[in-house]
Amino acid sequence: MNYVLAPSILSADFKVLGEQIRLTEENGAKYLHFDVMDGMFVPSISFGMPVLKSIRSATGQVMDAHLMVEEPIRYVEAFKNAGADIVTVHLEACKDVDATIAKIRECGMKVGLSICPETDAKEVEGLLAKIDMLLVMSVHPGFGGQKFIPESLDKIRTIRRMINEQGLNVDIQVDGGIYLTNVREVLDAGANIIVAGSAVFGGNPAETTKEFMEILKDYE
Ligand code: DX5
Ligand code: ZN
Repeated sequence: MNYVLAPSILSADFKVLGEQIRLTEENGAKYLHFDVMDGMFVPSISFGMPVLKSIRSATGQVMDAHLMVEEPIRYVEAFKNAGADIVTVHLEACKDVDATIAKIRECGMKVGLSICPETDAKEVEGLLAKIDMLLVMSVHPGFGGQKFIPESLDKIRTIRRMINEQGLNVDIQVDGGIYLTNVREVLDAGANIIVAGSAVFGGNPAETTKEFMEILKDYE
């Protein structure tokens, strides 16, 4: 299994965004997590395709687009054109989740499916075989800097067990409230892709990325 750090640029300093991204890339972060908010599925609004397109040329990292957007099928093609490599949609936001997954595949991207803290793991059991990555939200989506919800650990364990029982090779990404102090618990529960916004960009991104990578190395 690959263990990956995905810094979330939501907490970056946008005055010097390119430089901050470079520091994470140089220190081993293989993904860049891009949080898209539409003001409908979540209360806040963040950024969208033009920003992703502009960043695309600044880094070789895997562009991991997390769409916190109602009916995300409407934007799948646009995110492909902007340079996304993975598109993650929320189960709760899709009218037809199978069609949305199929659309992401048709566009040649990896498929991520996310569930909010109140959504039960059982809801995704029958969908695991169709996706590449399951994103467990460990905070209520919409804002950076929230506190990790401890019940997420059980959900991660349950989903890892379901993946193993079905003989699949699906990544588990966890997003929200992850710091150097609790990341081991998340990894021990069965996650292998770690999103971190405040923890990476709240300090010097070169140093914080390096520290996360030291921990991830123990799990390889
Ligand atoms: C929340 C976003 C997260 C957020 C994580 O809606 O999906 O990716 O940026 O931020 P931290 O790591 O600060 O909790
Ligand atoms: Zn996110």
